[in-house]
Amino acid sequence: MSVQTLLLDFSVDPARVGDESGQKTVFGQLETILKEYVPNLILAADINIDGGSLKLLTGKKGTTVSVRMFDRGLVTVNIEYYKEDTEEPLISFKCCKQLESSVKLSMDCDRLKLMPTIKRGYKYDVYLTSSDERLLEYDIDGVLFDEQSTFQRVQIVHSKSLGNMLVLDDLQNISEADLIYTETLMQRGRESYEGKEIVILGGGDGALLYELLKEKPKFVWMLEIDEMVMRACDTHLRSICGDVLERRKGDNYEIIVEDCMVTVNKFIKENRKVDYIFGDLTDIPISESACGELWEFMITILHASFQILKPTGKFMTHGNGATSRKSLELYEQELEKLKPPVRFTKSKAFVPSFLEDWIFYQISFKSTDNGDA
Ligand SMILES: C[S@@+](CC[C@H](N)C(=O)[O-])C[C@H]1O[C@@H](n2cnc3c(N)ncnc32)[C@H](O)[C@@H]1O
Repeated sequence: MSVQTLLLDFSVDPARVGDESGQKTVFGQLETILKEYVPNLILAADINIDGGSLKLLTGKKGTTVSVRMFDRGLVTVNIEYYKEDTEEPLISFKCCKQLESSVKLSMDCDRLKLMPTIKRGYKYDVYLTSSDERLLEYDIDGVLFDEQSTFQRVQIVHSKSLGNMLVLDDLQNISEADLIYTETLMQRGRESYEGKEIVILGGGDGALLYELLKEKPKFVWMLEIDEMVMRACDTHLRSICGDVLERRKGDNYEIIVEDCMVTVNKFIKENRKVDYIFGDLTDIPISESACGELWEFMITILHASFQILKPTGKFMTHGNGATSRKSLELYEQELEKLKPPVRFTKSKAFVPSFLEDWIFYQISFKSTDNGDA
């Protein structure tokens, strides 16, 4: 079941809807057209409101149509009706197109938009957001895992085009189509991991660990807080993580299940340094300690990480969507403040499950001449 919502809006000369009588005339014309598409439509309420009016109509099978007339020259129409999954839509795609052109023609409007039908209360949540909060619609046709852990809602959904996909607290994390994410994060082909000691902060989907182990590192510590993420990925994302999440420990790796800060602080105390640190945490990392705002926690992680990095080492992390310039700038400003000073390079890749370009950072100490610009 779902409620189908059709959103139509158009603009007219403000003089045509500037007063009550003008709004009545425009609404009358619109009502005639709407009645052709929604059976048994009757006006149930007509309310004058500041800046315009609101008309509420009801139709067959509880369909509601609300028409909001703004005296500045904008008219919005919301059509809502209930639909069982097996039922045909009340207004087919073809009819939507006809409705759109009828309104355009009869209303003599400057601008008109009919959005694709929005499905609400549907068994699958097909809407996620981009990094800059734009609405994205996915072709999700199944939910394989959906549980609440101590830290977050963990879901594995199936998308027709992306395969299985990990979603944490309604944020897309990784899918079976996202090898490019891992390869850009690790700069495959540009960095050599052979014989290196590496720490992964987060990385619960196991994809980064799985790919790094192919490069023969000396040792990898993966520090992931959420047991449930690993259980879900081990079962449903085997194509990207192999069996690393099942085994948890190998000759050259270990997964430690706790807040990454615990091991990082332990390494600081022991004065232990590594060659690479990967920031593969969720965009909003989970903080167990009371260390204030999210941004503050991210800075704490950054500062601590550089304390366990060899002078020749690198901190590799994913940043944000390429369109989220403000957040990227803020992050770069924080990098500028680090002591000892660091320099960074950036890479960009289109990540299929994010449906957008993503920025990745490679950060190293400035004093070390390791060839970066
Ligand atoms: C699944 S990975 C992948 C990140 C990613 N590709 C994205 O889109 O954000 C992120 C992991 O970071 C883990 N995480 C978040 N905060 C953490 C913390 N403080 N310590 C360790 N792991 C943490 C989450 O549990 C999650 O499994």
